[in-house]
Formats: sequence, C-alpha cells, structure tokens
Amino acid sequence: MSKSKKYGGGEMNSREERVKWFMEDRFGLFIHWGLYSIPARQEWLRSIERLSIEEYQPFFEEFNPTHYNPREWAKMAKAAGQKYAVLTAKHHDGFCLFDSQLTEYKATNTPAGRDLIKEYVEAFRAEGLKVGLYYSIIDWYHPDYPKYGDRHHPMRENKEYKGEEINFANYIEYFHGQVKELLTNYGKIDILWFDFSYDEMTGEKWEASKLVEMIRSMQPEILIDNRLGGNIMSAEPEIYAGDFFSPEQIIPPGGIVNANHQPIPWEACITLNDHWGYHSKDLNYKSPKQVIRTLVECVSKGGNLLLNVGPNVKGIIPPQSLVILQEVGKWMEQNGESIYGCTAADLPKPEWGRYTQKGKFLYAHVFDRGIGPIYFAGLKDRIKKARLLSDGSELKVEVPWMAEQYSDIENGAFITLTGAELPDEKDTVIELELID
Ligand code: GLC
Repeated sequence: MSKSKKYGGGEMNSREERVKWFMEDRFGLFIHWGLYSIPARQEWLRSIERLSIEEYQPFFEEFNPTHYNPREWAKMAKAAGQKYAVLTAKHHDGFCLFDSQLTEYKATNTPAGRDLIKEYVEAFRAEGLKVGLYYSIIDWYHPDYPKYGDRHHPMRENKEYKGEEINFANYIEYFHGQVKELLTNYGKIDILWFDFSYDEMTGEKWEASKLVEMIRSMQPEILIDNRLGGNIMSAEPEIYAGDFFSPEQIIPPGGIVNANHQPIPWEACITLNDHWGYHSKDLNYKSPKQVIRTLVECVSKGGNLLLNVGPNVKGIIPPQSLVILQEVGKWMEQNGESIYGCTAADLPKPEWGRYTQKGKFLYAHVFDRGIGPIYFAGLKDRIKKARLLSDGSELKVEVPWMAEQYSDIENGAFITLTGAELPDEKDTVIELELID
C-alpha cells in the first residue's frame, strides 16, 4: 500500500487517549442525506419496497441539492451546542456523496456534480466542529454483495438472484478501498461510523481486523463505532470492536460497562421524528424538552447523544428540526457547563431529576418542581455553595422550618426555590460546588 499521509501526528495507542475529546464534547449532530431524500419515505426505501436498482435510478438522475450549504448546517449545529457531526458518506443503497474513484454511483455523476463530503468537512471544520463520516458496510448497489436470501437486500426474495455467483472478495476490496479514499482525501476525520453487521455478516467476514489496522495506521486518532462486529463489552474486545458502543433509539437503562464492570464510552443515536432519512409525512417530532432531558440522561450515565436530522433533497433541514435545535441551543447557551466534560455522579438518581458531575461541581438537573425545598439526599454538609446555573444567582443551602424534621433521614441538604414553577420547566440546573 502506498505510504499514506497520517493525520493527527504520532501513534495514538489507547482508546482512553482517543476518546478524551469525545467524552468532553458529549453532543453531536447526525445527518442522513442521499437519494432516498427524493422519494422522502426514509432511507430503507429500497429494502422495504423491494425496489430494483433500475426502479431507483430516476432518483440518481434527478439528484441536485440546489440549496446545499453545509456552512449553514454547521452554524446551526454550533448554535445548538453540538460539537461534532456525522454525515452519511454512503448509506445502504450504495450511493456515495463523495467523489470515489471506485464507483460511478456517486454525487459527482448526478446533476449535483459536486463532492458533497468535501464541502461538508471543510464547512464544519471552519465552524470549529469535529467531523465524522457514516459509512454503510451494507451495499445494495454493489454487484458482489449477497442478494437472494440475505436478511435485508432489496432482491432477497427475487428468484432471479438465487444461486447467483458473486465474488465477495471484490466487495471487500471495494469497501476497504473506499474507506482508504475517505481517510486519504478529506483531511483529518474524527469519527468513522460504520453501520451495520448482522447474522454471519460481521467481524472477519468484512476482514475487519485488516480494515482497522489500515484505519489506525492512516489516522491513529480516529474513533470507530462498534458496528463492525465483535464485542466491545468483553474483557478482551477484538481490535475491530470499536471505541464506543452505539445504542440506537434508546438510552441504556444504566450506563454501559464491560465484563470487568469498567465504564465504556457510548453514544446514543436518536432521530428527531421517527426516521433517519427525510420523510415528508413524518411529523412526529420530539419536543426541545425531550431532547434536552435525553441529552442530560445520556451524560448522567456517562454517554453522548448523536441527534439526527434528515435534510430534503434540496439540502434543506426540515423547519421543525431547526426550531427544536434552536431551542436546545438556547438552553445549552445557559447550561452547557452541566453537559460538556461531565459524566455520571456517584449518587443515586434523585426523585426530581438527574445529576451530572465534573470534578467538584455537581449539577442538579431539576425536572420536577415538587412542593417545598429541593431535597439532596446524602449531601448534608457537603455543599460549599449553590448557584442557579443559568444566571449564576445564589441559592441558599439551608433547612427551612417545614423540613426540619426530615433533614437527618438520609443525611440530606435542602435548597429552596422561590417560585411555584421551575425557572426553566425543561430543566432547571443548580450548580453545587462540593466541599473537597
Ligand atoms: C439503523 C438503520 C440505518 C441508520 C442507522 C443509524 O442501522 O438501518 O438506516 O442509518 O440505524 O444508527
């Protein structure tokens, strides 16, 4: 292999080193965008509707994102408080948003005529965000990918493909070659987000060890998710088991620990409505409050949130998504310190909400106002000072008359909030500076 340029300097030999920025940044933007944005019935369209390549071809011939302006996307993400992004370079349909020399099935050959990934990485870096690429291991366009009898392929029940002779090694060479292109031609890539392994299509079926060795030799600092296969939670994970676990459409009930009960990095990916790719009929959007509380829940369990938008074919992010991200950004503007660099606190979950912690600063995320003072079990005589994080105003740590008989139940502390309602009903954050 030609001596490829390394990005990120010297050898980066431990996951702990690699994930430092990731555990600090906590909040990222996922972007699902491609040919499927035209039929606007989600990214699994070809598989669900058993569409042949020919039936899907009109979308290739039409694809022209006239309003694509990744700098605007980056500004939106930055204003929302997101610190990194992951854009689909190739999804399961095999269409490449980047100018790959290994296929004709790419954006530069559509009316778009441009390398959408090149523009994305440049724009997001210009706004100070880290850049990730989603790359589908599954490929419903490549002739040497299994079809008949596969679990997901659009032609899985088409008898024309029964007994078809394919050369899977060709597909693996193509797959690895495209990953090499992405790590050679687009500068420093911060995350490679593979998707996804299934049944026997996992691990060394993809020649995953060889792939990860190549990736790590080219970009030692890059983070890789866990979807190449293997078991990131084992005591001795495979080389390709990844740097972070990737729960989808769920926040894990507890944190994520490996077989040695050591916490491992994880990132939950969540849609804003019910679909990853643009779906014109799906108006089932989450509220800003749900998104904020989901982000807090992730961090309170030591994890990240990757929040998805699905732009339409023009390159326009749905207005519903924009409004939610703007509202989340306003909250992050005032309360981001309780997210960035924070992790789980060594305290039980309180009745009124959740805790996040960063060193001696404990952040109480109060979701439910309740009646009377807010109760902090186990924190009696441990709080040096308390501030409303949004405006820095002082909050008094004291036992009001109505609480006197309860203050020793669980060695607790009390803070009185004056209003009947919370200052911010989405999440009111109290910064507690703990006594060393
Ligand atoms: C699932 C879906 C895929 C989506 C991914 C995001 O794997 O199949 O369409 O990109 O989730 O995590």
